[in-house]
Amino acid sequence: MPSYETISESRRFELATLFTILVANGDEQYFHPHPLTSHEAKKKVQYKGLDLYFLQISAGKLSGYGFLRGWDEGYDIPSLGLVIHPQFRGQDLGKNFLHFLHKQAKEQKAREVRLTVDISNKAAIKLYKEIGYQLQPKNETSLVGFIEV
Ligand SMILES: CC(C)(COP(=O)(O)OP(=O)(O)OC[C@H]1O[C@@H](n2cnc3c(N)ncnc32)[C@H](O)[C@@H]1OP(=O)(O)O)[C@@H](O)C(=O)NCCC(=O)NCCS
Repeated sequence: MPSYETISESRRFELATLFTILVANGDEQYFHPHPLTSHEAKKKVQYKGLDLYFLQISAGKLSGYGFLRGWDEGYDIPSLGLVIHPQFRGQDLGKNFLHFLHKQAKEQKAREVRLTVDISNKAAIKLYKEIGYQLQPKNETSLVGFIEV
């Protein structure tokens, strides 16, 4: 079972490395909440605010990165994002991370969580539907989904 932690200095290099791997793997097409750079990894370590950023750890290694954000901007419904390290995909870690993030949202008194997903991101769409997200078109390239938590 994976564990979860908030982002600390001790994981900064691993997070920056994950961002580099994602870019090399072409994942920025589907996962681009912010630039995937070492500067951004540093910003996440230093971040203090209402939004929540987490790392997923599997067998001691960084296997995923996810967040709930929007509270800083004043929204009641947080926007969820997650990515699993390419070498850790297909092991139910994405599913596990989603459940973890929903629990965190609930603890912050959110009733719902939202996300957006590219219409061609088949793996993510299948996962979100399976978990219970109601997806609808947002624009020509993406869907928006909501789930009660
Ligand atoms: C989408 C993503 C998070 C899934 O993570 P994962 O750990 O591989 O997913 P899981 O192993 O938990 O799979 C859960 C479900 O997702 C779906 N799924 C996962 N990979 C899939 C694939 N390659 N093709 C089709 N469906 C897939 C399946 O429904 C699967 O359920 P099943 O095992 O019962 O068939 C991961 O592929 C990823 O990080 N992608 C790049 C970034 C991204 O797209 N993030 C989401 C942005 S909205």
